[in-house]
Amino acid sequence: MKRRTFLQVAAGASLAVGLKSVGAGSARAESANTGGLTVKRPPRFGDGRDWFFEKRFGLFIHWGLYSIPGWHEQHQWRGRIPRSEYVKLADHWNPVHFDPDRWLDVMEEAGMKYITITAKHHDGFCLWDTEYTDYNTMNAPYGKDVIGMLAEACHRRNVPLCLYYSIVDWHNPHYPNEGRSHELPPQPQDSPDWSKYLEFLKGQVRELCTNYGEIHGFWWDMNRPGYEDPSINDMIRELQPKAVINNRGFDDGDYGTPERDFHADESLSFVKPVEACQSVGIQSWGYRKEEDFYTDRHLMRSIDRYLARDANYLLNVGPKPDGTFPEESVAILKRIGAWYHPVKESFLDVKPVSPLTDNRDVMLTSRGRTLYVHLNQDLRGNFVQLNPINVEPVSAKLVNDGRDIDYVVRFGPWSHRAEGQPAYLNLINLPMNEMCNTVPVVKLEFDRSLTDLAQPSSPMDGDSGFRIPGNDA
Ligand code: GLC
Repeated sequence: MKRRTFLQVAAGASLAVGLKSVGAGSARAESANTGGLTVKRPPRFGDGRDWFFEKRFGLFIHWGLYSIPGWHEQHQWRGRIPRSEYVKLADHWNPVHFDPDRWLDVMEEAGMKYITITAKHHDGFCLWDTEYTDYNTMNAPYGKDVIGMLAEACHRRNVPLCLYYSIVDWHNPHYPNEGRSHELPPQPQDSPDWSKYLEFLKGQVRELCTNYGEIHGFWWDMNRPGYEDPSINDMIRELQPKAVINNRGFDDGDYGTPERDFHADESLSFVKPVEACQSVGIQSWGYRKEEDFYTDRHLMRSIDRYLARDANYLLNVGPKPDGTFPEESVAILKRIGAWYHPVKESFLDVKPVSPLTDNRDVMLTSRGRTLYVHLNQDLRGNFVQLNPINVEPVSAKLVNDGRDIDYVVRFGPWSHRAEGQPAYLNLINLPMNEMCNTVPVVKLEFDRSLTDLAQPSSPMDGDSGFRIPGNDA
């Protein structure tokens, strides 16, 4: 029997669940007695930047000289490598197998729809043909414009391209390296001058926003603490109106960037757009020899938790020095894609509605009368109870593979004699042992609006609760 109803009466528990919402970055708890279903969502931009809310899942690329010896991307700083030594890596920059179409193939197989690449990371080496420093890909043995090649492929394939730019610079003598976090100690050959450095930076940003066609985003990293200058983002907006700008630059930008931290953030929704970022490698963002990798399950749960809350997700790979992706990373992305493609309908064109239940083992998204139940946590058993929902769905299917899922509106047997005991919708016989390494998503179709899923009903009235299945109509 696929559908069973042991008891249809249920004590009313309203959907007035406390709503918590959180801004990008700083948490601001807010509760609302909804009496229905109102879930706060970040407002859309209402202009060309709204591609961000459609594409949702992107590929992050950290690539640079550090990939040549297979170092962590911050090894110049963390390993105290003298600048005069580090720059010698540029003599070996020759990624002869770099093929942007191959990258985009792998990206699309994973289900990702946009790409963000480190045009310049902290080491200062530039992956494009810049007139502002010789320390770039054109002057290395490779002699080709990596950003230009990637931009050409992205435009041809209609893939939004976003550019990462590190404000910290371990190469430019004018950047004030003062030994703060992510900064080198002062170097003897330096002539720190923030305003000269800003001229350099603005020139490079203008170059990136002018020479490569449409750019869909600008991803700042590592601003100097407290330094603000909205004119820089204004310039980007003028040159590239579709570009979304993150919050790590010279003002608050358009969206927040939580990093590798999905356990820390338990809010149910966001008030500002969010793009979480994570790497397949645990230790590093760039290609690193002997890297450790996250489990598929960890990544899928992380992706699910952000996408189900209306946020975007950027998953990173560090290409090898020859320009190809490491085999382990490709294998991970393929497995992520095998999970993501069937379940993506539960993320795209949906609303985040997790407050519909107070069961925090699941996240909920919805479209019309469809409710998606994301089994995001380590369930103790093979069921989930969706209190206060007490209405049967018309159908229940596992989105991952289309199989039917059993359900029941029931009292818990441990307390079914208690007066006023409510009955709730339970998804039962879930294949959790079989699917413990993935994130199952159950699709429930209802015959009514989702605001009517918790029906007021009579308490049990001292009833024994005994019903013969099928005879309880
Ligand atoms: C951190 C790391 C940096 C990396 C970035 C990606 O800021 O220091 O290496 O580029 O995260 O979000």
